[in-house]
Amino acid sequence: MITIDAVSKRFPDGTAALDDVSLDIVRGSVFGVIGRSGAGKSTLLRLINGLERPSAGEIRVDGIALSGLDRGGLRTLRNRVGMIFQSFGLLANRTVAGNVALPLELAGIAATERKARVAALLDRVGLREKADAYPARLSGGQRQRVGIARALATRPDILLCDEATSALDPETTRAVLALLGELNRELGLTIVLITHEMAVVRAICDHVAVLDHGRLIDAGPVDQVFDTTRHAATLALLGEAA
Ligand SMILES: Nc1ncnc2c1ncn2[C@@H]1O[C@H](COP(=O)(O)OP(=O)(O)OP(=O)(O)O)[C@@H](O)[C@H]1O
Ligand SMILES: [Mg+2]
Repeated sequence: MITIDAVSKRFPDGTAALDDVSLDIVRGSVFGVIGRSGAGKSTLLRLINGLERPSAGEIRVDGIALSGLDRGGLRTLRNRVGMIFQSFGLLANRTVAGNVALPLELAGIAATERKARVAALLDRVGLREKADAYPARLSGGQRQRVGIARALATRPDILLCDEATSALDPETTRAVLALLGELNRELGLTIVLITHEMAVVRAICDHVAVLDHGRLIDAGPVDQVFDTTRHAATLALLGEAA
């Protein structure tokens, strides 16, 4: 369970990215976060994996308060919380296998074990035959699969996805969402997913939260939020999708 308790984030230049946000993300759920550009979505994800610290409030992962973690504790947290990005973030000078191996190298996993785990991860995302290819030779969907395999390398139980499908065409988006759904069901992976696309929320999320100018304006089961919201910002997001 991820507990976000009265969290605010103000940047040194005075920007209030998040304002008193409280939210529970239950283990095993696929949780969507939506909102206009600048609403604070990426900031929220960066707080959950400890890349940023809140200005006020507390975040807990399975009851452990992130504010109390030292460097070692934060490293352990980041091994438990994988992240994938819109831009994939792969290293161009490393092969597919080399990219997936990187977090294992950083974690000090021995070479034989590393090889076995990379092979299993590439099997898992359906890219076994691309192990020795370089990212430049992959399609967008394949690159995102490498990003997913890399994020899973340290065996996290939480996966944070920041616009992971917005660079992909609809068919490739469906394939990547299907993979995420599989990982959720088969590994019990908790997924927190930022998206601009309401279709993505409807396709894969069980819960959704709506941020507007740093405030949480809606949160709950997808159908309930989408069917009963009275907030103009949420209705606008839904309207744009129609
Ligand atoms: N390091 C930073 N320093 C100052 N302001 C920042 C910083 N990071 C984000 N912000 C500001 O905080 C607000 C929220 O940014 P955030 O990136 O979380 O939005 P977002 O919802 O992810 O938007 P988008 O959909 O465009 O990705 C914005 O006003 C942004 O300019
Ligand atoms: Mg963002």
